[in-house]
Amino acid sequence: MNKFIQVAIDSPAAAGAGTQAKLIAKHYNLLYLDTGKIYRYIGNLKIQNKKKFNYTLIKKKISKLKINNLQKKNLLSDKVATEASIVAKDKKIRKIVYNFQIDCAYSPPRKFNGSILDGRDITSVIMKNATFKFFITANIETRSLRRYKELRALNKKITYKDVLKSIKIRDKNDYNRKISPLKKTRDSILINTTNLSKRSCFLKIKKIMDKKLKN
Ligand code: C5P
Repeated sequence: MNKFIQVAIDSPAAAGAGTQAKLIAKHYNLLYLDTGKIYRYIGNLKIQNKKKFNYTLIKKKISKLKINNLQKKNLLSDKVATEASIVAKDKKIRKIVYNFQIDCAYSPPRKFNGSILDGRDITSVIMKNATFKFFITANIETRSLRRYKELRALNKKITYKDVLKSIKIRDKNDYNRKISPLKKTRDSILINTTNLSKRSCFLKIKKIMDKKLKN
């Protein structure tokens, strides 16, 4: 395969986009960036630094950031997710994060066949001309149940009701904010994962991609 492949995915919280992105990345040998993790990283920075949290600190940290730094388990908590969706509304913060994402999207290391990014503004802002654009979603109860199970597996003390509540708040923040709101662009393919297993969802996406890549 010698085509440079760019895959852009947007989705509301816990819709299964990350799982699919990882499977696609592995199958097509693409660099994967979970852009939500960058906002979670900044949200966590805010929680940890409180008074010292400012744009200079964020710039400094992002300039040294490596994708590996985003794998830490402490970024997975519900508290960090909520803080992430608050810092993500800030125009200056989005600007700081922009170049990091552009580097991954357009200049992945040569060993890869391309890149895949998922988030909220990937199809609309970061990778407008991606080879493939998907909007992955599922109903809110399914998303909350999936996230609840994930958090319980990490031994986080949380109830389903709490998860549902925080996903509702995040959806509201993400869909309604002024800057880079979550939306399905007209040229994105809608994938509803509510009644799909991980495998059948992946096969559906793969079928769409393989058809275009053959041409
Ligand atoms: O994807 P994840 O749920 O980890 O993202 C955490 C938060 O980061 C989201 O609720 C959203 O507010 C923000 N985000 C964003 N733009 C992105 C990715 C995530 O605003 N591209």
